[in-house]
Amino acid sequence: MLATLNFHSISHFFLNSLALSAWKSLSGSIWSLRVNPSSGNLHPTEGYFITGPVSGLDGIPGGVFHYTPKDHALELRSRIKNDEWNKLDLPYGTILIALPSIYWRESWKYGERAFRYCMHDVGHALGAFGIAASCLGWQVLLQDCVGNEDLLSLLGITDVDDLEAEHPDCLFAIFTDGEIHDVSISSEDLKRIHPSELLGKPNTLSADHVDWSIIYRVEDAASKPPTNPVHGNNLDRSPKISKDICRIIRKRRSAQVMDGQMGISLDNFSKILDLIKPSQVPFCPGLRRSYVDLVFFIHRVQGLGNGLYLMVRDNGRAKKLQEFMNPEFEWKKLSNFPADIDLYLLAQGDMRFVAQQASCHQNIADDGCFAVAMLAEFEEPLQEIGPWLYPRLYWECGMIGQMLYLGAEVNLLRGCGIGCFFDDFVHEILGLVDIEFQDFYHFAVGKALEDKRLLTLPAYD
Ligand SMILES: Cc1cc2nc3c(=O)[nH]c(=O)nc-3n(C[C@H](O)[C@H](O)[C@H](O)COP(=O)(O)O)c2cc1C
Repeated sequence: MLATLNFHSISHFFLNSLALSAWKSLSGSIWSLRVNPSSGNLHPTEGYFITGPVSGLDGIPGGVFHYTPKDHALELRSRIKNDEWNKLDLPYGTILIALPSIYWRESWKYGERAFRYCMHDVGHALGAFGIAASCLGWQVLLQDCVGNEDLLSLLGITDVDDLEAEHPDCLFAIFTDGEIHDVSISSEDLKRIHPSELLGKPNTLSADHVDWSIIYRVEDAASKPPTNPVHGNNLDRSPKISKDICRIIRKRRSAQVMDGQMGISLDNFSKILDLIKPSQVPFCPGLRRSYVDLVFFIHRVQGLGNGLYLMVRDNGRAKKLQEFMNPEFEWKKLSNFPADIDLYLLAQGDMRFVAQQASCHQNIADDGCFAVAMLAEFEEPLQEIGPWLYPRLYWECGMIGQMLYLGAEVNLLRGCGIGCFFDDFVHEILGLVDIEFQDFYHFAVGKALEDKRLLTLPAYD
């Protein structure tokens, strides 16, 4: 199905990506939850819709629009002149989405860990957009040539030193004609756009702030400079998302407690692994390649013995992983999975205690069917490409997490992102002594126990 670009499809696009999905209420308190998850439900990721004149959107001026989840509405922040937009020379019906983060939304609670949580959340949001686009038959292409400075000026962000400022993360193109086009917007292209003065004013979040300066030092060090296009980024492929996923997007929830009993069949486990292959939506073309592999703590997968397993998502990496990991690992490749899923048994045994310890002692890591530690290839790619790759490793983890959430829901299970984990402990378990590979994010999947005291209300009237 290919949705025509109009108000209805744009509404649907945001409804399935950044919108509210429910309200919860308990003892007089009420809070909203969204389609995309967020550490601490703090939602530092903002969404901007950027468009020129499009016939299906008659009456909408070309401009930069902020998406406001509470009202499920777009707020015009600045206008873009038609002739400036046309200079981008984008295929007709292309729209742009930009995501910045407000670090303060996370740092007031999590301190310096906020940077990584914000980047995980960007990854989840990228995943959510990629899936929402695919459900409409649209294609997504990350625009990874532009530098952060130019993205900043496109969004009209000037108050960069303010502790509540938005910090630009990424820009991506949505092709609503269903084709994937070889389009690379450059920083030079963005410099030709001069959005009008900003309309409206963001709400103030807090009267007082704590300056977690290390966050800004990391941001500076990892800021994306303008780069040249990398052509041939899998532009020839256009994977489609399954209808089952499209049906359950708005039902995704995080498990707070898992039952410690329910298992998953090998077949369904294999289907979840299939969803996180780098060739699938939302691992969109435009990302250079995949850098993240998954260590599985298997507790209850029927037909798989309990133990430590590794899914290598790029089989060119298996040799290197083997070289750097504990030499006593078995590296037994499992044959009962499709040929394009490389799953290895590393060590047999009950991993529940280890998984729980590794995830800040959280029981979701040992009470589910399995828990995951996401291992990013670190030193070599950062040396090769530059420090700006660092946030993108978290984005990839977030996208994997988003697919694990949805894969769990399709199987009547539930997932939960685990941003609190002990990386050094995991490195020790894996025998990693240097920084070739680093533990970047954890996740758990299992049967959730619902909190019966919570009342669930619809997202919108
Ligand atoms: C990056 C990230 C890290 C998270 N870390 C944890 C965690 O360590 N422990 C936990 O119980 N939940 C964790 N969560 C789940 C969030 O608390 C949950 O997404 C949030 O409360 C919103 O609820 P929802 O996912 O049902 O919309 C994490 C979620 C994300 C996206």
